[in-house]
Amino acid sequence: MNREEMSRIAHTEHPIKSPLDDDSVGRLLERGLPRGNERVLDLGCGGGEWLLRALATRPHLHAEGVDISEDALAQAAAAAAIDLGVQERLVLHHRKAEDFVSAEPFDAVLSFGATHAFGGLLPTLAAARRHLAPNGHVLLGEGFWDRPPSQEAIDMLGNFTDLATTVERVVADGWTPVDAHVSTRRELDDYEWACWGSLAAWALDHPAGPDSSRVLETASTRRWEWLRAYRDTWGFVSLVLRRTSDRA
Ligand SMILES: C[S@@+](CC[C@H](N)C(=O)[O-])C[C@H]1O[C@@H](n2cnc3c(N)ncnc32)[C@H](O)[C@@H]1O
Repeated sequence: MNREEMSRIAHTEHPIKSPLDDDSVGRLLERGLPRGNERVLDLGCGGGEWLLRALATRPHLHAEGVDISEDALAQAAAAAAIDLGVQERLVLHHRKAEDFVSAEPFDAVLSFGATHAFGGLLPTLAAARRHLAPNGHVLLGEGFWDRPPSQEAIDMLGNFTDLATTVERVVADGWTPVDAHVSTRRELDDYEWACWGSLAAWALDHPAGPDSSRVLETASTRRWEWLRAYRDTWGFVSLVLRRTSDRA
């Protein structure tokens, strides 16, 4: 079993690959897509969950998603065509998000859980800015340290800043937050329990398969890493941003 298959199983019960519940996702989409007929781009769209939810509830919306995972894009395409019938309004691009170019700008650019692909928060915003139409919105999800982290947590998750510094860096880069959501303790916990629980359940349901032991061990290791190394220090913020210069 490769990493992508394992990720697909881990997200069975929590298809949004970030610590956000359905209400939070819905509210962020409402804030970022106020008209309902926007052109939306998701950089690092994974299985397209954000775009699929936006398309399903907004019949005049058009969406494009970019990801390097063929497996995740195939899932997005299948859900768009078979489950939702929105495939004519969704274009999926199998390529690196940093290499994506488009002739037309987008009214909203999303990127959740994928800032590492660009080399961090500010390079992700630079990429979003290149694709954004005037007065457009950027919806961005990013980790932060809620308390001082251990070196183990930094080694595991990367080097974030605290929430205030994260927002300060965004504002200094020319963006104005028009809304935001800090994931609750419950959202953070639900996400981790769902991921490692789904993997563990899969292993128990497939005891004779060649991957069963490895999957069970991975679920157990990742659960301990979360509980011991970063549960008490890591947080997640979702920002709804507009370019400050759009005021002119
Ligand atoms: C944590 S998942 C988030 C998926 C989705 N945004 C969500 O919140 O459900 C990160 C995604 O980024 C994708 N990714 C990683 N590096 C990338 C790159 N260089 N270009 C495009 N996508 C990338 C991965 O394949 C994965 O689907």
